Amino acid sequence: MQISKLKDHIGAEVTGIDLRQPISEADRQALYDALVDNVALVIRDQKFEAADFQTAAELFGEVMEDQNRMYLAPGVPMVSVLSNRHTDSKGKPAKLAKNASWHTDHTNQDLPPKITSLYAVELPDQGGGTAVCNMRAAYDALPADMRERITGMKTENTLISSARAATGNPDVVKARAALNGKLVVHPLVRTHPDSGSKAIWFHQNKTETVTGMDPVETQTFLTELLETAIRPEFSYLHEWCLGDMLLIDNRSAMHKAGFDFDYSQHRKLFRILVRGDRPV
Ligand code: SIN
Repeated sequence: MQISKLKDHIGAEVTGIDLRQPISEADRQALYDALVDNVALVIRDQKFEAADFQTAAELFGEVMEDQNRMYLAPGVPMVSVLSNRHTDSKGKPAKLAKNASWHTDHTNQDLPPKITSLYAVELPDQGGGTAVCNMRAAYDALPADMRERITGMKTENTLISSARAATGNPDVVKARAALNGKLVVHPLVRTHPDSGSKAIWFHQNKTETVTGMDPVETQTFLTELLETAIRPEFSYLHEWCLGDMLLIDNRSAMHKAGFDFDYSQHRKLFRILVRGDRPV
C-alpha cells in the first residue's frame, strides 16, 4: 500500500490495496491516520458492489443510516445512492442542488457522521467532481478578530432553515414541519477529538440560527464566513475516476458536489456515513 499527498493542505491518495480483502491492523490504522492528517483520502482502483463498500467503510468505524431513506442501494440499506436521475415522492425529477454548496452532513442530528465516504459507480464524461475544504486550515487562517468572534458561537440546526424553505426540496420542508420546531445545537467551531485542532463546521441549509442572529441574518453571516474562509489552497476538487473511494473527515472538512456536468449523462455515487461523537 502506498499513500501520497495530493496537495500541501489537503488530500492524500492510496494505491496498491484491495479493500475487498482483509487488511492488517497496521494498514487500517495508517489509512485512518492519513484521513485525519489529510482531511480527504482517495483510495483508488476498488471494485465494489454496495456490500463491499459497506465492509470497506466499516474499517473506519460503525456505519450509520443516511437520514434520507428514499434512495438506498437495493439490499444494502446502509448505503445510499446519489444520482441525478432520482425522482421525488411525486415522481418528478428530484431537486439536484441540495449538496451543491459547502456543507457537512446531518448537522440536524445530535451525533453527526464523523466520516462521509463516496464511491463512484457511474460518471459523466466531464465535471461532477466533489470538492472538499480543510476547515481547520481555513479557521487557522482567519483574521484573529474573526476567529475570536466565532469561537464559542453556536448553531441551531434543523432539516432546512426557515430562511431557505421557500426554495428547498418540498419533501425536506415537509419533514421539517414534522419536527415541531426541534432544533439541535452545535458549536460553529468544533474541536477534533483525535488531533485537538479546531475547524469551522456547519451546514448552511440546515442552520436555523447562529448565536444572536435571526434566520435571515444567519444566512448572510454564514455566506460571508464561507467567502472569507474557503481558499483554493485549502480545497481539493476530487475529479472522479471509476473505482475511487473518497473519504472525508467531517470533523475537519466541509464539502460540496459539482453539478457542472451534462445532466443527460448519469452521475451515480454510493454514499455511506460513519457514526461520530457529539461535536464539541
Ligand atoms: C455529499 O454531499 O455528501 C455528496 C457529495 C457529492 O455528491 O459529490
